[in-house]
Amino acid sequence: MRAFQWPWEARAHKGNQIQAASPSFYGMWDAVARFAAEIRASEFMTEMIRRRDAYGSEGVMGALDCATLYGLARWLRPAEVVESGGFIGMSSAIILKALADEKLATARLYSIEWSEECEHGALIPDDLRSQFVPLRGKVEDFVRSDRLPSSIDMFLHDSSHSYRHMLWEFRQFWRRLRDGGLLVSHDVQMNAAFPEFVTKTYAHDKKTGRRDAQRTSHHEWGRWGYIGFAIKKG
Ligand SMILES: C[S@@+](CC[C@H](N)C(=O)[O-])C[C@H]1O[C@@H](n2cnc3c(N)ncnc32)[C@H](O)[C@@H]1O
Repeated sequence: MRAFQWPWEARAHKGNQIQAASPSFYGMWDAVARFAAEIRASEFMTEMIRRRDAYGSEGVMGALDCATLYGLARWLRPAEVVESGGFIGMSSAIILKALADEKLATARLYSIEWSEECEHGALIPDDLRSQFVPLRGKVEDFVRSDRLPSSIDMFLHDSSHSYRHMLWEFRQFWRRLRDGGLLVSHDVQMNAAFPEFVTKTYAHDKKTGRRDAQRTSHHEWGRWGYIGFAIKKG
């Protein structure tokens, strides 16, 4: 028995018009685009951009990618989220806003940041902080500790964008993702790590040349702006 609901099941129960009981993941593109457009035009986004620019936007996620991240989180409705490279919290605030807008009051965002020099999560509005779990240290150390949940719904990579480190994080957190969980990466344009990782979770049927669904360990995957995502198939 599954402990979670697929996003369209939850929406069907809520009577939400956006994503009625769909048997396919293809419908997620429409839903994510709608959520992304909603947040892009919101006062919340205007305020976050104001905060970001006042703080200094160097190294912080841009508005288009924030909107995609919000759309993905709202679509998924995760309970346990981990992000690497929390920094001053632009991505954190966006994820927390998605949790709040979906009324996921018990959901948690574990945010890992190693730098002592930055004010971890400084941009996050006060009313979103209760679900924020800041973890100061290296991702490499946290994966060996018991401070992270063993099973997670969503992982966002936004720490070091070296090819090696990105691949390493994808492999580490893919194992922790439950069936239907979402691997998200920022800055996938920087190197080949993301497409290479997805290629490894894909198998094709030699006869038809099409995806072999039985042997492929992801559902939908894609790239939007600098954000890449893949849905794990357990
Ligand atoms: C691009 S910034 C993250 C931006 C942030 N997600 C946002 O939207 O505001 C990358 C951050 O990753 C942190 N970082 C890099 N390597 C790390 C590691 N191995 N463990 C933890 N944090 C790391 C850096 O200190 C830096 O603050």
